[in-house]
Amino acid sequence: MARVLITGSSRRLGLMVGELLVQQGHRVVLHARDARRAVDTRAALPAVDDVLVGDLASIDAMRSVAEQANATGRFGAVIHNAGVGYRERYLVTADGLSHVFAINVLAPYLLTALIMPPNRLVHLSSGMHQGGSAGLGDPQWERRRRQAAQAYSDSKLFDVLLAFGVARHRPDVRSNALEPGWVPTRMGGPGAPDDISQAHVTQAWLAASDDPAADVTGQYFYHRRPRQPLPVAYDVAAREALSDYCAGLAGVPLPPSD
Ligand SMILES: NC(=O)c1ccc[n+]([C@@H]2O[C@H](COP(=O)([O-])OP(=O)(O)OC[C@H]3O[C@@H](n4cnc5c(N)ncnc54)[C@H](OP(=O)(O)O)[C@@H]3O)[C@@H](O)[C@H]2O)c1
Repeated sequence: MARVLITGSSRRLGLMVGELLVQQGHRVVLHARDARRAVDTRAALPAVDDVLVGDLASIDAMRSVAEQANATGRFGAVIHNAGVGYRERYLVTADGLSHVFAINVLAPYLLTALIMPPNRLVHLSSGMHQGGSAGLGDPQWERRRRQAAQAYSDSKLFDVLLAFGVARHRPDVRSNALEPGWVPTRMGGPGAPDDISQAHVTQAWLAASDDPAADVTGQYFYHRRPRQPLPVAYDVAAREALSDYCAGLAGVPLPPSD
């Protein structure tokens, strides 16, 4: 039995993986953006241990979510599921960051830096990361014409770099990334063609399964099978540059390995 935290789990894939883990006998902590959503989230899955609250667009709230998480004890696994997509208009957060970058990239970075290290980390990437760029010339889209799909693709590539970076730095943590398929959620849209019944299974498997095939680190998956990510995901310099950049934004480095 594992204890698993799932960020952004008030709906769809996050809530679905919570439901599956509860069915499998694991203890689950969910997370919602605000108190009202947290009430609805608990009502949707009353068997969870807790629902943490915080808007991951804000660095202060990211810190608060990490504090709430640590107050419940150490997790066996953290699934970085919260995300915003390529349909949203360009928004700047109160911290002056691209909304997509803050939620999709800085939040998993900072939560990983501040939450007591779990045994396993699971990062939700996307097939769209294949069109991403790992360049850090203008990650907040301050000097370029805004392209929502590109900003999302970049963020999902950054998620792979974060996952693989932790895998290298912390051999004690199993840190992997996956794509769930293009499925009909609010983010995916009603016409998404992939199988929603499979879209949450790999996250649960990587987080809590005893299957030796899930007991790996620094790998990228699609439907429980390894898949090749964009080659830059293996570029140590690109991973270090992203980690340093996030550390500078958040004022918190990733803790060294024990
Ligand atoms: N659906 C797809 O086809 C697809 C494909 C590839 C990858 N993914 C990835 O899968 C993950 C889940 O996506 P989904 O399809 O389930 O999307 P979704 O239905 O839009 O759900 C996103 C979840 O993230 C939460 N969230 C968003 N912004 C937040 C914030 N500022 N603070 C706290 N929580 C926040 C949402 O909460 P609210 O309800 O409060 O907004 C919601 O619970 C994402 O990381 C996404 O990039 C999805």
